[in-house]
Amino acid sequence: MSDRIHTLSGYIHEYQRSVNDPEEFWARIADSFHWQKRWDKVVEWDFDKPDVKWFTNAKLNITENIFERHLYTLGDKPAIIWEPNDPNEENRIITYKELYQMTNQFANAMKSNGVGKGDRVIIYMPMIPEAAVAMLACARIGAVHSIVFAGFSSTALADRINDCTAKMVLTSDGNFRGAKSIPVKAVVDEALEKTTTVEKVIVYQRTKEEVTMKSGRDIWWHDAISDQPEEYKAEVMDTEDMLFVLYTSGSTGKPKGVVHTCGGYMVFTKYTFENVFQYSPGDIYWCTADVGWITGHSYIVYGPLLAGATTIMFEGVPTFPDAGRFWAIIDKYKVNQFYTAPTAIRALQAYGTEPIAPYKLDSLKVIGSVGEPINEEAWHWYHSHIGKGKCPVVDTWWQTETGGIMISPIAGVTPTKPSYATLPLPGVQPVIVDAEGKELKGNSVEGNLCIKYPWPGMIRTTYGDHDRCKQTYFSTFKGMYFTGDGAKRDEDGYYRILGRVDDVMNISGHRMGTAEVENAINEHPKVIESAVVGFPHDIKGQGIYAYVICDMEGRSEDNLIGEIRETVNKIIGPIAKPDKIQIVPGLPKTRSGKIMRRILRKIASKDTGNMGDISTLLNPEVVEAIIKNAK
Ligand code: WT7
Repeated sequence: MSDRIHTLSGYIHEYQRSVNDPEEFWARIADSFHWQKRWDKVVEWDFDKPDVKWFTNAKLNITENIFERHLYTLGDKPAIIWEPNDPNEENRIITYKELYQMTNQFANAMKSNGVGKGDRVIIYMPMIPEAAVAMLACARIGAVHSIVFAGFSSTALADRINDCTAKMVLTSDGNFRGAKSIPVKAVVDEALEKTTTVEKVIVYQRTKEEVTMKSGRDIWWHDAISDQPEEYKAEVMDTEDMLFVLYTSGSTGKPKGVVHTCGGYMVFTKYTFENVFQYSPGDIYWCTADVGWITGHSYIVYGPLLAGATTIMFEGVPTFPDAGRFWAIIDKYKVNQFYTAPTAIRALQAYGTEPIAPYKLDSLKVIGSVGEPINEEAWHWYHSHIGKGKCPVVDTWWQTETGGIMISPIAGVTPTKPSYATLPLPGVQPVIVDAEGKELKGNSVEGNLCIKYPWPGMIRTTYGDHDRCKQTYFSTFKGMYFTGDGAKRDEDGYYRILGRVDDVMNISGHRMGTAEVENAINEHPKVIESAVVGFPHDIKGQGIYAYVICDMEGRSEDNLIGEIRETVNKIIGPIAKPDKIQIVPGLPKTRSGKIMRRILRKIASKDTGNMGDISTLLNPEVVEAIIKNAK
């Protein structure tokens, strides 16, 4: 734990050092890991191509840094504490040694079923320890995992399977969420009708509901592991071999596969985990995310396990069986660090303080937030009612592409400020640039947030389409990584994230491209054209507002709206269902035919006082008509 920063002056010193000599800085952090072969060069980079390599030519396996490295000292310590959806079902406590054996056993099972180094494996599973075992087993044999959030539809799943030409799918029969049980295997079956590359499907029996098992293709998890040994010698990986692909939405219609590699991701997630949360040996840490998102990858599985921490995995939802569930779990396990999303905080805030009253919450030392800007009101509620005024709130800004936390307070070490992510972590060099890409130096500035120097956890490419990576992140502003976020640096030098500046929405902390939702809406046969924008939503942060031009012949508006919503549900999944759908006679367009989203955003947020100059539009009259019928 020698890399942990303990004091403000320590932070200032480390930060300076990381900027003055990044190679010396990261080499020192990386030194504490187990490498099978040391690197020749700490970093090699060219943001124009882009081509970024960390710890060139080093060899390692990330799972050796979780298991072999910890087994002697931490073998009997809980690695994962699993809390089931139903509080009356028994929990599971899995030690490092047990997790190691489960991982090896499953690694052998995958190997026997034809998966090897470099093959892609889709994980479409509920929040059970086997999801972590699946990830770690892939890493152990050098297969590339790609987790698809189990709430995505069969179409979305098929698209991802096809994009990365996956050979295997790991899934479950069903998934318990709150009072419901959701079929999972059936969704996989449907997806596989639209794909050709998957040879084997391994199914974990969770809900015991009936499923069809296709002979020769589908195998039960318990059968797959039954005769497998609990040892597996980790594959030797190059530092820049792919560790995983994770699909995320962007401003174009098709989600892209963000690629992370072994060495840099390992160093960055452990370092940021230990520092931001100030994890001490023996602490119980809980992140409420799902493994289907990057937060689950970096801060439920890899970061905490690399640090030898005890990480809680929760299968359920915050409001089942009641709105006190989170607080009950915190007391049950005496959680020390708690990490959740603003949308969950706001949703629970709406229940008042009554559900909190039965609980002490006195084990908490640090509380964290991630996924979207946390508004001041939610920050204060979280700080006083959950943190009891004594726990620092770490508002952590980062992205799927950054691999780990970039801008955040270091708990108890650097200052916090409501609604501010505050200061960059050591090794992270953010800049704010204007529309032309000119760096705005000094304090009290506002503009586009970029990063001007590489960091070990950063995206390397977008799967199968390197040019897309270049266009999306490295072309808007030359020589810099562009985050897509707007930010301000205040008079004290603290960063405040202002939200996306591109056509990407943030719905309950989940990223969703407007074009992706539009494409789904347009699949409905009666839809002629659509435009989607985000609007402020009390709980979700942003909601989805869809303006749709339809062929109304013989159809009622209500039916059509219901069908469009269902179309989106089918093509993407419930998280993309529009909150509001308005059938419109036309969409405001410029003379060159570009949809004026600025106007649609104003209408969606009920801010129609000053629409600006609309006289230059191709069809100014539709604006009035849309405002009149706005939802
Ligand atoms: C986008 C990334 C990072 C894991 C979860 C989301 C927004 C994230 C914050 C924060 C303000 C935030 C940004 C970013 N975002 N954290 N603390 N304050 N905004 O990952 O799906 O890749 O989304 O989420 O807009 O670009 P993601």
